[in-house]
Amino acid sequence: MARKVSPSARPLGIFDSGIGGLTVASAIHELMPDETLVYFGDTAHLPYGDKSPEAIRKWSQAISDFLLTFNCKAIIIACNSISSVAFDVVKKHVGNKAIVINVIDPVVDYVCAQSGTKHIGIIGTKATVKSDVYALKIKQKSKKASVSSLATPLLAPMIEEGFFNNKISKTIINDYLSRPKIKNIDSLILGCTHYPLIRPEIEQYYKGRVNIFDSARIVAHHVQWVLDEHQLLNTGKAGKHRFFISDYTQSFEQSTKIFFKGKIKLEQKNLWKEREFKV
Ligand code: DGL
Repeated sequence: MARKVSPSARPLGIFDSGIGGLTVASAIHELMPDETLVYFGDTAHLPYGDKSPEAIRKWSQAISDFLLTFNCKAIIIACNSISSVAFDVVKKHVGNKAIVINVIDPVVDYVCAQSGTKHIGIIGTKATVKSDVYALKIKQKSKKASVSSLATPLLAPMIEEGFFNNKISKTIINDYLSRPKIKNIDSLILGCTHYPLIRPEIEQYYKGRVNIFDSARIVAHHVQWVLDEHQLLNTGKAGKHRFFISDYTQSFEQSTKIFFKGKIKLEQKNLWKEREFKV
């Protein structure tokens, strides 16, 4: 007979199109080392930011089903593009089997609670910027704040390919950040979970003139708060973390090692071959 697992000992499911969600996963791991993680990076479909909302919704539901096979207590959508266009669909799909958390609401709440935030810039994928979800949510929370969003579609693939902290990334980042659309901002939300990896370069560009917010630590604290509210914080030790990708990429393997200090064994899980999958 299968051993009964206590509700709080169940793992956290985390997913993204690729390595971006690892910024969230590693912040969660740092804050709550006793939680067991099951990660899925859909590298076969990366980048999500250029894909249609319909495709993103289909893939996200299938990944959620896969994470639920591990009996996850919560599913964290560690991707702004998915959070923008598929959060409600995933939440409905998962129902009461697990708590579903997106990366946008905790950041909006956090940024709107900062005093002196008047003109907020958002950079993110085409999917995130097109959805306008940040502007809509910020305007609901803060009457005073104005929002300017800029799609920066080259950044996630660039990071996924390991281009950060070098001449190429600096040129592309500086080109995007100097666009008139996000001139005169006092705060900048890094609206893509890949971007914490280029945060030092963005900080170098602004030289302290702009407050920069990324989702990793803010979301980790939110997840901790939600688990605590539901009395689901693990009281024992973490089990074995699992990291799945839908297609093997060397850069993913290197990045998992940066974040989890080489202790990771990557597992390839081609969900899309196994499912009769039509969008
Ligand atoms: N990390 C993702 C995000 O936060 C998506 C990047 C992509 O696949 O386009 O939007």
